[in-house]
Amino acid sequence: MGLFAFGTSNIAVGLDIGTSAVKVVQLKKTPNGPELTGYAIAPLPPAAVEEGNIKDSQSVAAVIKDMMKTAKIKADRTFASISGQNVIMRFTKLPIMTPEELDQTVRIEAEQYVPYAIDEVSITHAVLNELTEEEGGGKYSILLVVAQKELVNSYMGVIKAAGLTTEVVDVDTIAAINALENSVMQTAGSQEGGDVVAIIDSGARTTNISVLKSGILMFTRNIPIAGNNITQMIMNVMKQEFEQAENIKVSEAEVNIGDSAGNEISEVVKTTVEELASEIRRSFDYFKAQSREPLIHRIVLSGGSSNLKSFSTYLSNELGVDVYMGNPLEGISVTVTDTDMLYNNLQQFTVAIGLALKGVTE
Ligand SMILES: Nc1ncnc2c1ncn2[C@@H]1O[C@H](COP(=O)(O)OP(=O)(O)OP(=O)(O)O)[C@@H](O)[C@H]1O
Ligand SMILES: [Mg+2]
Repeated sequence: MGLFAFGTSNIAVGLDIGTSAVKVVQLKKTPNGPELTGYAIAPLPPAAVEEGNIKDSQSVAAVIKDMMKTAKIKADRTFASISGQNVIMRFTKLPIMTPEELDQTVRIEAEQYVPYAIDEVSITHAVLNELTEEEGGGKYSILLVVAQKELVNSYMGVIKAAGLTTEVVDVDTIAAINALENSVMQTAGSQEGGDVVAIIDSGARTTNISVLKSGILMFTRNIPIAGNNITQMIMNVMKQEFEQAENIKVSEAEVNIGDSAGNEISEVVKTTVEELASEIRRSFDYFKAQSREPLIHRIVLSGGSSNLKSFSTYLSNELGVDVYMGNPLEGISVTVTDTDMLYNNLQQFTVAIGLALKGVTE
């Protein structure tokens, strides 16, 4: 195959249907690397997506259709994702074999992790790396990904109803890693034996944690605490509706650092943020024990909730790890003229960028 296929197939659209909003990014493959040629973000009505399930497919499809039209984004190839909270991801090691054999073996291997009938799930895998001699050699380290077909189909259905065709349904966790790979390398130090970096994507409903060593995924977990929990706290304590509570959170809420006296809202926010930080710590402890890696060198943040004021400083203090904001546009040139919405919500576009990147870097 040549460098460029004919038609518009050098253009790919990433579509991230999150709990709070749909994010769309259009990337174009060029000889100088990917170019961002379009984007859009549109809020979803409350309860349209819950727990990573589409509850109101008509509304979601209408939102997608509308935002694509307004932003004048045409998509021949759409790459979408389901939420990490609804997939089973397991790490395993398998002997080196042909891709066909691997497909077969992975299926058999996956069966033991699947709490559903095997014909009700779709199973995919990614070869993460080949084990080094030190690690035993002769084997692949593999990530197994299992999702219920029904769930994948419901996403496919909505995407189709919005007038799009999707080739791949990925997992948001993996897409975020894909988008932040360059950013992770940028912040890389020169730790002997490779840097251990945690990517934390905190959205509205969930916070996904992924730990990579020398760029290779080693651990992933999903925590059901994120932006909506903070909004809910503000609603309860300050007796506000969802919309008002969201506004208060974005404009006024700030995480208290140390003993500094915070305002009323930061007191409200603190409980949730403390809970989230302790869950992250628990995941890190588990990862360290299981991998025998003594240290996590850096955290790279993404997702809308990473914008919560002083959240990154708080996390860094609590966990004793340097925290950086991820830049999903590292290595991508932006050629749209109106970039305000993009840069103002950059963290929210991470997954959509990672999805579109699949289409232009393959
Ligand atoms: N400046 C800000 N300060 C605090 N929170 C913010 C800010 N901007 C966005 N958020 C929060 O980020 C969340 C949305 O982020 P994102 O779009 O990454 O989530 P999502 O993909 O819709 O949700 P999920 O991935 O959990 O399904 C919302 O809870 C929103 O209130
Ligand atoms: Mg998300």
